[in-house]
Amino acid sequence: MKKRIFVNGVYQTKFGELWDKSLEDLIIEAGEGAMEDAGVKGKDIDLVVVGNKLGGKLSGQDHLGCLAGELLNIDRGIRIEAACASGGVAVHQGIGAIKAGKAEKVLVIGVEKMTDKKNGEVAEALMGAASEEERQASLNFAGLYGLMARKYMDKFKARRKDLGLVAVKNHENACLNEKAHFRMKINIEKVVQGVMVAEPLGLFDCSPISDGGAAVVLSGEGGKNSVEVLGSQITVDTLGLAERKSLVELKATKEAGKRVYKEAGISTEEVDIAEVHDCFSIAEIMAYEDLGFCEKGEGFKDLKKGRFNRKGKLPVNLSGGLKACGHPVGATGVKQIVELVKQLSGKAGERQVKGVKIGLAQNVGGTGGTVVIHILGKKGRI
Ligand code: COA
Repeated sequence: MKKRIFVNGVYQTKFGELWDKSLEDLIIEAGEGAMEDAGVKGKDIDLVVVGNKLGGKLSGQDHLGCLAGELLNIDRGIRIEAACASGGVAVHQGIGAIKAGKAEKVLVIGVEKMTDKKNGEVAEALMGAASEEERQASLNFAGLYGLMARKYMDKFKARRKDLGLVAVKNHENACLNEKAHFRMKINIEKVVQGVMVAEPLGLFDCSPISDGGAAVVLSGEGGKNSVEVLGSQITVDTLGLAERKSLVELKATKEAGKRVYKEAGISTEEVDIAEVHDCFSIAEIMAYEDLGFCEKGEGFKDLKKGRFNRKGKLPVNLSGGLKACGHPVGATGVKQIVELVKQLSGKAGERQVKGVKIGLAQNVGGTGGTVVIHILGKKGRI
């Protein structure tokens, strides 16, 4: 019989410029927070899986499975790296360990400490997730997503302000999230007037550089109100954009989406809320389309109609997304799961949406080289 997986506890640290917190502090706060929420201690956990991209380059520490084990009194630990999808892939691996019978209770921590270094150094370190040619061309991720944005705008006649509505929506959502990096409303004029980062993407089309941690406790046992993991799938594509057939979609999202809907036994229409990877505004619009929420080329139109707003039919990025909740890269994929669990269990406070039964999280590594998607539901939902 198929082994069921439940989320027993969740925690998110504040995201932002946390100059008084080290990588170790964030691991401890996130890990202990999730274990306390689950009512367990380190000795009850069989395995800690840490999602992290830049520990070695920015903090001089790569050996995070061991470090987290030592800090949290857990005697098995591994670290997962999958670019900005490190957190989501760590969750996938935690689920896999339980399904394989290698662990009963797993703590998954996503963590990143980015703001101690200069932005240029961080951007260069992030480019470890791109192709050799892209690095040699001195591109950065804003430039790579800028290429996709330009192509999309040309093909579907979208304007800068159509893309910018992603930032307006996500900043508004983040105002209700006390853990978010940015908690201020912005209007579309501010987005369009923002300093240009990589044509056509301005400052407000970009997620920020953030510090933060998030954690979840997973097991095969769920209580009355537990949230269940209904599906977990990863797909990879080419590292570089030049090898792709299309620049207006992420093939890995489409593939992982098909597989995860099948695994969960649900259709796209059944998704009540989603946390998607809005590292740049164009990425959120492509996600609506690649996940099947709307037809290709229609995402920005549905956004404009308010469909993905907090009070819309399918709220997206209630946490504030990467854009406004922040993007400590290894933590992002785990934070998405934390947000879904809070919403599904009615514990999202001011930003709670009513009647949520199914949530989807899409976490992207690089320009779509890796995509991991989870679908979560309330126990007994199916
Ligand atoms: N959105 C809104 N405001 C932002 C911001 C963002 N993305 N990034 C920085 N700011 C604000 C800062 O809070 C600061 O405000 P203040 O002056 O009121 O304190 C101001 O802009 C300057 O901050 P600074 O850090 O010096 O900005 P920067 O110009 O060096 O960096 C970006 C801005 C967009 C280039 C940087 O955030 C970036 O590289 N983001 C992308 C990160 C990335 O590629 N992640 C991986 C995705 S795949």
